[in-house]
Amino acid sequence: MNDTSLYQALKAHQQKGFAPFHTPGHKQSGFFPSDLLSLDYTELPDTDALFEANGILHQAEEKLARLFGARRTLISSGGCTLAIQTMLSLACRKGRKMLLARNSHRSAVNTCVLLGIEPIWLLPSDGGCFTGSISPDTVEQALSEHTDIAACYLTSPTYYGELSDIGAIAAVCHRHGVYLLVDNAHGSHLAFLQDNQHPIARGADASACSLHKTLPVLTGGAALHIGCDDFTEGTKEAMALFGSTSPSYPIMASIDLCREYMENNGINAYRRTEKRVTALKQLAAAQGLPQPPGRCDPLRLAINTACAGLIGAEAQIDYCHAHGIEPEFCDGQNVVFIITPFNTDHDFRKLHEALSGLTGHDTPIPAPPLPLPQQQLLPREAVMSPTETVPLEDSEGRIAADSACPCPPGIPVIVPGEVIDRSVIQRLSAIGQTTICCKQ
Ligand SMILES: Cc1ncc(COP(=O)(O)O)c(C=O)c1O
Repeated sequence: MNDTSLYQALKAHQQKGFAPFHTPGHKQSGFFPSDLLSLDYTELPDTDALFEANGILHQAEEKLARLFGARRTLISSGGCTLAIQTMLSLACRKGRKMLLARNSHRSAVNTCVLLGIEPIWLLPSDGGCFTGSISPDTVEQALSEHTDIAACYLTSPTYYGELSDIGAIAAVCHRHGVYLLVDNAHGSHLAFLQDNQHPIARGADASACSLHKTLPVLTGGAALHIGCDDFTEGTKEAMALFGSTSPSYPIMASIDLCREYMENNGINAYRRTEKRVTALKQLAAAQGLPQPPGRCDPLRLAINTACAGLIGAEAQIDYCHAHGIEPEFCDGQNVVFIITPFNTDHDFRKLHEALSGLTGHDTPIPAPPLPLPQQQLLPREAVMSPTETVPLEDSEGRIAADSACPCPPGIPVIVPGEVIDRSVIQRLSAIGQTTICCKQ
């Protein structure tokens, strides 16, 4: 083991012993049986085949569909990205013009490139591009302005935990004969909380879920849940278009183990954690630390630390590390914590201490506004044209040929086909980007 720097770096990180408030949901807790990696098989007569499943994988998917109340569920070991690609391609059967929330993850924008989708952007309720929920009125208005829309695609919950009213939006979409597709990457656990806000329970036609983010599943384990009859046929074929022919059995088996856990002790454990996070949210409120307004994921803790003087991602990370915790994400204004039952009492104590050390003044300091850049080409047209990489400072007025974004949260500051303006340059240089890919 002399030249295994990646492996050694992971071990070194582990030895720091930070309380993990980030993905994956299992928190390196020893949830999985120790022989899981020894089951790294390929598709064999005994082990079924993911895209032609008719044996144990088919059964695992059927059980998962029952647990989540879906008409059909497909397993992915290629992350939520594969589920997003699949659900968007299913909706393309009806047409390529779609409403997409502008705070969509880059995996959705990339899929627009792959499939030639024409996005009509919906702006979240806060008026910015980055975060916030989508209101039913916004969807209603867009659908009355555009009569040829195939589907509406949005992210709920957001990285910060904000929930859109999926039930009301589904009603709007269905009245207009439009599919509702929900990126629920951060909300697999919602199905198990007191008030079930999982998109499938609320009427979405399909929902892509990063099981690994908030449930005890190995990284890469995800699911596509189907909620309408139109998408039950040809679904595997749609997924096979994008998926690797070598799906990981340890990842898929971890999904099966998680399903079994959720059918037994898991629900109670998640509901107990919901109470513990509620107490942390109350503590943050008492400390004057604002949280996202409106309906939010009960398990997601996102606090505005800027109003307590803790500004800038570096300072936020330093503060968390000094308190022995590793957050999911610091954006300079807010810090996001992903909390699951696999966080220990010790983890909760550390987080409690860190929150107790901050005193804010209740009014969040908002991130600088980012106006919607002007869209001149379809994302696919921009990416497929001849491109060049130019210094960011010289790019004003040029058409972007790639998504540029901080990751996390992976929400593009600029989407391919949009015109780069000063505010985009400022936002990207603030995260250290120095060049950008443009159409020639
Ligand atoms: C909102 C959202 N959607 C989709 C994805 C992609 O998920 P995955 O990494 O499982 O492919 C992410 C990843 O962070 C995400 O935050």
